[in-house]
Amino acid sequence: MRLFQKCVSTPGILQNLHPASWRDHRFGLPQDRWERLKGRSFWITGAGTGYGRCIALALAAAGARVFISGRRIEKLRETVEEGTALGIDVSRCISVPVDIRSDEDLVRAVRSIQHVTASLYGLVNSAALPQPPGTVFPLTDQSVASWTDLLATNVTGPWLTCRAAMPLLGNGEGFRILLLSSFAGWASTPGFGSYNISKSALNTLGASLAAECAMKHPDKDIQINVLVPGEARTEMNQGSTESPYAVVSMVLVLLSHPPGGPNGFFFNRDGRHLAFAYTQEYPQPLLDVR
Ligand SMILES: NC(=O)c1ccc[n+]([C@@H]2O[C@H](COP(=O)([O-])OP(=O)(O)OC[C@H]3O[C@@H](n4cnc5c(N)ncnc54)[C@H](OP(=O)(O)O)[C@@H]3O)[C@@H](O)[C@H]2O)c1
Repeated sequence: MRLFQKCVSTPGILQNLHPASWRDHRFGLPQDRWERLKGRSFWITGAGTGYGRCIALALAAAGARVFISGRRIEKLRETVEEGTALGIDVSRCISVPVDIRSDEDLVRAVRSIQHVTASLYGLVNSAALPQPPGTVFPLTDQSVASWTDLLATNVTGPWLTCRAAMPLLGNGEGFRILLLSSFAGWASTPGFGSYNISKSALNTLGASLAAECAMKHPDKDIQINVLVPGEARTEMNQGSTESPYAVVSMVLVLLSHPPGGPNGFFFNRDGRHLAFAYTQEYPQPLLDVR
């Protein structure tokens, strides 16, 4: 029997799965949700490393077509090689190098995606920069150039990417967008001021875009949400020992949600539903609780 009580987390999120055993665990997705991803097209930024790579490969494992983006073509190649090593059919992974700070680059990228498909079902914005090194007090000492580059990558970049992808996303019955944020977006930790600001702005971009798209396309199944992926060992965080595959279970739960799911909400990779500003926690689990 379905439980209808108010709940501020999604139980059943699995964070310690070995990616090589994906056929056995499907990253924690029930079969019907796994099947929902098959044959759909997704665009993942930051897919040459870290979380973006893991998300792209998990989607390919589920049978999705995945456009993988980043600036370094050799890193995109490594993503494909890692997929092959995991036994994933990487013929559905298509490299689309792009610098998300450049609108011209993004328009070119969308054109090359359009050569393959007329519509995208999902976009995952994972590309970002960490707090630039070089100063302990960024908000008083950071150069304008380094501030501008951080904001161009972490805020303007995801906005430009969403904007460029919108014609392809809007072509179907609905779409999913995920923005990878950070608890930095809720924090004021000294030394990380400009990164904190970038993630706080990204949170607002996610919620505001969700509200705008819902108003613009009331007939479509739109789910635009923000995910805090937490700590993992990636290029930007060499201090962690956690695998970036830990984020995959929650990402796939969000991307495979049937119509009527969350739009404009905040989640943590462990299944917790979060509040941000005036947005309360999404009130029901994202997986059926029977
Ligand atoms: N790892 C953590 O502990 C942690 C914690 C909280 C939040 N996050 C968030 O998780 C997301 C993924 O980060 P990650 O940990 O996976 O770090 P990562 O391995 O450093 O990945 C960042 C990716 O962004 C790409 N990128 C940077 N600038 C770009 C640009 N201008 N255009 C296109 N791509 C660009 C990089 O590729 P190229 O250099 O090849 O372009 C790289 O693949 C980020 O949003 C990050 O803020 C991570």
